[in-house]
Amino acid sequence: METLHLPLKENSYNIYIGSGLIRNSSLLQEQITGSQVFVLSNPTVAALYLEPLMESLDGFKVDSFLMPDGEQYKTLATVDRIVGELLSKSHNRNTTVMALGGGVVGDTAGFVAASYQRGVNYLHLPTTLLSQVDSSVGGKTGVNHESGKNMIGAFYQPGAVYIDTDTLRSLPARELSAGLAEVIKHGILADAKYFNWIDQHLEALRSLDPAFLTTAIRRSCEIKAAVVAEDEKETGRRALLNFGHTFAHAIETGMGYSGWLHGEAVGAGMVLAADLSWRLRRCSLEAAAQIKSLVNRANLPVAPPEALDTEQLLDLMAKDKKASDEGLRFVLLDGALGVVQLVSDVPMEKLKETLAAGEALCEK
Ligand SMILES: NC(=O)c1ccc[n+]([C@@H]2O[C@H](COP(=O)([O-])OP(=O)(O)OC[C@H]3O[C@@H](n4cnc5c(N)ncnc54)[C@H](O)[C@@H]3O)[C@@H](O)[C@H]2O)c1
Ligand SMILES: [Zn+2]
Repeated sequence: METLHLPLKENSYNIYIGSGLIRNSSLLQEQITGSQVFVLSNPTVAALYLEPLMESLDGFKVDSFLMPDGEQYKTLATVDRIVGELLSKSHNRNTTVMALGGGVVGDTAGFVAASYQRGVNYLHLPTTLLSQVDSSVGGKTGVNHESGKNMIGAFYQPGAVYIDTDTLRSLPARELSAGLAEVIKHGILADAKYFNWIDQHLEALRSLDPAFLTTAIRRSCEIKAAVVAEDEKETGRRALLNFGHTFAHAIETGMGYSGWLHGEAVGAGMVLAADLSWRLRRCSLEAAAQIKSLVNRANLPVAPPEALDTEQLLDLMAKDKKASDEGLRFVLLDGALGVVQLVSDVPMEKLKETLAAGEALCEK
């Protein structure tokens, strides 16, 4: 097992990474402060992992609640049901909320923990690769509003995160690839050596080799954690974690949040960001092509969906810009792989060239 410490002043905590953590009763019980535990999961994940977790929590008064599976249930209505459940089972301020599931369960449980009786202990067991390397690090919690994703929420750090790599064995291959998109992103934005390591060991990662998985999850969490530690509430540097995401958000919105997973949109978004970086002479064609090739090998899309043309994508990004109040900004490479910068003055004709390139992205 590996332990990664997140130094966030009074909100510091550990991330534990390894095989079999759900069955590690003494480790899981260490951070439980009272006598009550409330486990939030969904039927898909609970069928696989709730029983061993309950066994590990032997000795505590444990209640569990299964929210329906799906992004569309990450809502205030679900939070309201969960709070009703907590109250009816008499959970007091010393209770511990535990999330067992992917990012949807984690974001919802974290928000419940942040707000139930003004905040209770929160422990997180992320079970998708995306939630292990991304959503479980950094303390962003929240739910969607019908007018916008993640529009209601709070920054709330857990007491600990337990990443059991064994849970990835049951994850659908498509979800695994979606998580790999964020892993690749971490290499691009912070560590060229790590990018090359992922490139070299992609097959081992895709076949869930535990040693390689643990190394990748640890390095990715480290990279995200380092950025978060510098900018916990996202006022500056944390925006660099959004490499590929300006494009990805346009794709996701344009597709009506259906058909493409977030990680898939990030795959295409990173290739678009690489192409734009190259067109602006911010990186070599080789570096951009390396990104495209790795994204492709991870079984992720390397171009925007055919259903969305240049004008539609521009329009979607402009709307997003209005919402953000900061102008159209892109995280782009800054010279080479492993270094990125937030760029706000991108010439329109270059952006259009990128959006129109289609299958020929990152090619001369
Ligand atoms: N808080 C943050 O900083 C942050 C960052 C990135 C994404 N997010 C949020 O995370 C969510 C996406 O998370 P996700 O990609 O984990 O999706 P998800 O939680 O919907 O999980 C994907 C699917 O996999 C299933 N699943 C989960 N673990 C499994 C396992 N071990 N075996 C088999 N099936 C399993 C789930 O039931 C679900 O059907 C979005 O709501 C997004 O907004 C939050
Ligand atoms: Zn993302």
